[in-house]
Parts: sequence; structure tokens; C-alpha cells
Amino acid sequence: MAKAGNSMKKTATPAGAPAINIGISEKDRAAIAKGLSRLLADTYTLYLTTHNFHWNVTGPMFNTLHTMFMEQYTELWNAVDPIAERIRALGHVAPGSYAAFGKLSSLQDAPAEPPKAFDMVRTLVQGHEAVARTARELFPMADKVCDEPTADLLTQRLTVHEQTAWMLRALLED
Ligand SMILES: [Fe+2]
Repeated sequence: MAKAGNSMKKTATPAGAPAINIGISEKDRAAIAKGLSRLLADTYTLYLTTHNFHWNVTGPMFNTLHTMFMEQYTELWNAVDPIAERIRALGHVAPGSYAAFGKLSSLQDAPAEPPKAFDMVRTLVQGHEAVARTARELFPMADKVCDEPTADLLTQRLTVHEQTAWMLRALLED
């Protein structure tokens, strides 16, 4: 496709910004941005569910879970920004509405009625594993086109989601 150069015909915007030319084709950038949009939607949905559970948890484990969920939603909240900004760096628009996230997310929305404490933990184990699957699915594509920043981001997200799933799962075991 268009190469950044001195051609006067190809300008990306009315302001005359040069076309993106980072060594990843337009098609590959679009495909990776699409995958990252799904990861963003999953992460945001899991963030909101975790914050909901922080508010609504009850029972003898209240203190432990209320605090643990706070740590987890804070981490998820901080994670959405680098994912969205990587989509922008690849030349695409980052989704950022409940409607868009609802369409893109592989996770269910938070339940309308607060579940029992251990059902919250089960829901979050499944949520972290679902986000891990979304991140892992995208990895080979990023790797294939040497998109190291995306691969690095995915590696970091996989580490967090798999570790958090383990810690939550441990609460459910004897
Ligand atoms: Fe709080």
C-alpha cells in the first residue's frame, strides 16, 4: 500500500499527516487492532463486573473479597489504557462505549442480581480465563508480523489473567 515518502497524492488526513509506515501492512494492522478491540472490551467488562462485586459482596468473607476485588478492578482499570493506546498507535479507533463493548466482549455483562460470594469468585475465574483466551488467540498474529509492542502487551496481560485466575480458584479449593 501507500508508502510514506514524498508523494503529494497520498495524505492520510486533511492536515497532511503522512501514512503510517511502521513495517506492518495496513491489513495486518487492521487485524491486530480488531483483536485488541476485543481484548479491550473483555478487559473493560471484567473491570466493571469486578467493581460491581466489590460493592455488592456479602457474607463471612466480606473483608477479604472486598479488598481483593478492589486490587483486581484497579489493575484492570489501569490495563485498559495501554490496550486502547496500542490500537491508536496501529492507526485505528479505540472502541469506548457500552454499546461497542457489549458487541465486542466475549464475557457476559455483570449479573443484575448480586450472586453469593463464592459464585462471584467463580464468575471472576471464568472471566479472567476468557480474557486470557482472547489475548492468546491474538498472539500468533502479532508474533508473525513482528509486532513486538502488541506481543509484549499480550504477554503481560496473559500473566496477570492467568495468575489472578489461579488465586481466585484457590479460594474455591479445600
Ligand atoms: Fe470501594
